[in-house]
Amino acid sequence: MSTHSHSVDLTALLSPVSADLERVRRRIGDVLSDAVWPVGDYLSQLDVGGGKMLRAALTLLSGQAVGSPGEKHIDLAALVELIHLASLLHDDVIDQAKTRRGCPSANIRWGNTQAVLLGDYLLSKAFGIAETLNLAGAAKVMCQTAEAICTGEIRQNFCKGDLDLSESDYLQIIEAKTASLFGACCYLGAFAADDKSLASTYCRQYGIALGMAFQITDDLLDIVGCADKEGKTLGTDLFNEKLTLPVIYWLRQGDGPARQAEFLRFSERSDAPALAQAIRQSDAAAYTLSRAGDFIRQAKEALVPLPESVAKDALLGLATYVLLRATP
Ligand code: IPE
Ligand code: IPE
Ligand code: MG
Ligand code: MG
Repeated sequence: MSTHSHSVDLTALLSPVSADLERVRRRIGDVLSDAVWPVGDYLSQLDVGGGKMLRAALTLLSGQAVGSPGEKHIDLAALVELIHLASLLHDDVIDQAKTRRGCPSANIRWGNTQAVLLGDYLLSKAFGIAETLNLAGAAKVMCQTAEAICTGEIRQNFCKGDLDLSESDYLQIIEAKTASLFGACCYLGAFAADDKSLASTYCRQYGIALGMAFQITDDLLDIVGCADKEGKTLGTDLFNEKLTLPVIYWLRQGDGPARQAEFLRFSERSDAPALAQAIRQSDAAAYTLSRAGDFIRQAKEALVPLPESVAKDALLGLATYVLLRATP
C-alpha cells in the first residue's frame, strides 16, 4: 500500500482487466509447466506473476479500448510478461541487484550463470508463444522489441561512467530498453482487436510515451525512493555509474567540474544517501518529474482519437499513476 499523499490505487485502476490478468498468470504457469528437471524447480521458485503486471495490463486494456479482446490477448499478455521477466533476470545480473519483487533476486539465490540461463529459457518460451499465436506481424514486432531492449542495455552499459552523457543520449537509451516494450504491448493488444484502423498506431504512441515516463520516474526512485516499497535494490544506478536524468540535470547545474568530482566521490563510496540528499536539495527532482510529465501529456494526447470507454479511462488513469508513483 502506498504512503504517497496523492497516489493512485493500481489494483482498483486495473479492475477492468483483473479477471483476465488472473488468466494471464495461469497461462504463464501452463507455458512453463513442461520444464524438465531442474529447470522446473527453479521456475517454481520464481515469482513469475508477482510483479505489477503492467505490460500484461497494457496489452489487455489496449485490446479493450479498441475492440473485443479474445484468447489471443491472454497469450500476448503472457508473452510480454515473460519477455519482461527475462529482462529483469538479466538486468539484476548486470546491475548486481540483490532484491527483486521483495525477495532475493535469482542471481543472489543461484548465481549469475543460472540467472542468465533462466532468463534465456524464459525468452525461448516467450518466442514459443509468438510462434503459435498466428497473429500477423506479432513475431516481427516482438523480435524488433527484443532487439531494441538488448541494444538499449548494451548502449547503457557502454556509457557507464560517462559523465558527459547528454539528456538526449539518455532518452534514446530508455526508449530502447523500456519504452519499446510498453509500445509493443499497446500496439499488439490493439492490433489483435482491430487490425483495420489506426487505433493500434495511437496505442503504440501512448505506450512509448508512457514507457518513457515510467523509466524516468523509476530512475528518480532509484535515487530518492524507498527500497521496501519498491521491492527491489535501489541505488544501483549510482553503484554502476549509470547516469540517469536527475543526475544528468544536476551535473549541468552550477560549476561543471566541481559537480562531476562530487558525483565521483558519491559513486566511489556508493554513497546513495549523499546523492539522494544532493538531488533533494536541488531542483533536479522537480525537473525530472516535469520531463516525465511532458511524456505523460503526450501519452494522454495519443489516446484522444479513441472512443470513450472504461478501458480508455483505465489507460488514462495508468498515465496518472506513473507520474504520481514518484511524486512526493
Ligand atoms: C521494472 O519494471 C523495470 C523497469 C522498466 C524499470 P516493473 O516496475 O514493471 O517491474 P514489475 O514487473 O512490477 O516487477
Ligand atoms: C531496467 O532498468 C530496464 C529493463 C529493460 C530491464 P532498471 O535497471 O532501472 O530496472 P530496475 O530498477 O532494476 O527494475
Ligand atoms: Mg536494474
Ligand atoms: Mg531502476
